[in-house]
Amino acid sequence: PKVAVIMGGPSAERDVSLSSGRECAVALREAGFEVVEVDAAADLCTCLQAIKPDVVFNALHGRWGEDGCVQGMLEWLRLPYTHSGVLSSALAMDKERTKAAYRAAGLPVVESVLARRDEVRTRHVMPPPYVVKPCNEGSSVGIYLVEAGANNPPALSDDMPEVVMVEAYAPGRELTATVMGDRALTVTDILTDGWYDYDAKYKPGGSRHVVPAEIPQEIFDACLDYALRAHTVLGCRGVSRTDFRWDAARGRDGLILLETNTQPGMTPTSLAPEQAQAVGITFPELCRWMVEDASC
Ligand code: DAL
Ligand code: MG
Repeated sequence: PKVAVIMGGPSAERDVSLSSGRECAVALREAGFEVVEVDAAADLCTCLQAIKPDVVFNALHGRWGEDGCVQGMLEWLRLPYTHSGVLSSALAMDKERTKAAYRAAGLPVVESVLARRDEVRTRHVMPPPYVVKPCNEGSSVGIYLVEAGANNPPALSDDMPEVVMVEAYAPGRELTATVMGDRALTVTDILTDGWYDYDAKYKPGGSRHVVPAEIPQEIFDACLDYALRAHTVLGCRGVSRTDFRWDAARGRDGLILLETNTQPGMTPTSLAPEQAQAVGITFPELCRWMVEDASC
């Protein structure tokens, strides 16, 4: 079978996507597929019509590639593709609507509100500490932390969307769990010196992953259960990864869901492939499974 790996694209996570795409292309060749690498530019549709792949491996991250847009085009072209479909991609890309779905399913989240960018610049819309983020970005792009006791509201850049999410700061450890089909794989504890921001995510040595996480069994099991329920309530397909924050001082009550990534990072050292490896699934095996699981 011929697989087109689509990557890059115009989103803020373009570079992350290029790494994911290139690594997946290598792994898919190793797994025996014929692979064409495609940088997702404006002529993506025409390119795919010319290539006529059997399956599209979506290695895009962020807007256009993770939010249902590309998925809609692939449905239109009747090309089977990896990961989630149109609705769940769009839903999961919107952090505030994701939370509404979580809440409806009884999954724990931290308090948040939507507010106008201009208002957020002029007054504290909730008592600090809180976090301001775009509803539709990944990799911590455009995140502001307003620390406890801060006098001034955050000086949001004009690049921020006109409506942003303001979320009570949830202290604690960063945990994450990958779902592959109907199975939650394992839990990773992500250790950083400071804030788990873009640099900590992608600079060598920026963070350390402990997998399986050395946390109480009860919390570990809750993460697996919540990740699978989040995947289900959002209607995800294939691989997804749900991120958590856990405040150990508050025990089980300190565990909340942050978001579900429908296009998790896919370099061999990214969280999802690392978790697959930890349960005995190699990177090429994971990529092969994703191709075999593709549909439209
Ligand atoms: N948004 C990045 C790629 C991730 O969630 O892994
Ligand atoms: Mg994300």
